[in-house]
Amino acid sequence: MNRDVLTEVRGQIGFITLNRPKQLNALNDQLMNELGEALKAFDADEKIGCMIITGSEKAFAAGADIGAMAKYSFADVYKGDYIGRNWEQIRSIRKPVIAAVSGFALGGGCETILSTDFRLADTTARIGLPETKLGIMPGFGGTVRLPRLIGADDALEWITTGKDYRADDALKVGAIDAVVAPAALQ
Ligand code: HXC
Repeated sequence: MNRDVLTEVRGQIGFITLNRPKQLNALNDQLMNELGEALKAFDADEKIGCMIITGSEKAFAAGADIGAMAKYSFADVYKGDYIGRNWEQIRSIRKPVIAAVSGFALGGGCETILSTDFRLADTTARIGLPETKLGIMPGFGGTVRLPRLIGADDALEWITTGKDYRADDALKVGAIDAVVAPAALQ
């Protein structure tokens, strides 16, 4: 079966790899369901001490799947509880969850890393919230979690410009916790 999320155990660390590389790991319900299941399984496994979520070399995740969202009306999103239904399970995990970012972490990809406890990015990372360029807002927690981390002033710049930021710049404002060389994340 094609899985959108792969898991592996190394020592006491549970690795979770987002696995839609051709779509730059664009997030859809199936992937987010599998991510939630993987996180919960590692949380329940007493041999696991923490979890690391990662993507491909080119993209952690380039956002919510734009094609999947294109047909949604406001009523669909509201009634179906899109996002709230299954995307935020990461916040219910009791063990530390770390994001390891190479390449793009945009929109929902950025908001996924904002939901984790610690964020590492390599020097290829491009992190940002381009939702306003699509006429939507960062509704997967970006408007709340980003200002908590970096302050309202910088968050307003990120959200209103939709720009993406290199790891060094994201580190300076506190959006991530460390910058590493690409080889360190392989
Ligand atoms: C669906 C996506 C995607 C996305 C990339 N792809 N991002 N599919 N949803 N978010 C697909 C492309 O369609 C393409 O498929 C393949 O991945 C490779 O992408 P390219 O564009 O060819 O790659 P590149 O030229 O390197 O450009 C990379 C990129 C660009 C700069 C990251 O793909 C891009 O701008 N993507 C959209 C980023 C974005 O707007 N994210 C926010 C989404 S909204 P094919 O089949 O053509 O090869 C969001 C909202 C969350 O996240 C909260 C909602 C409430």
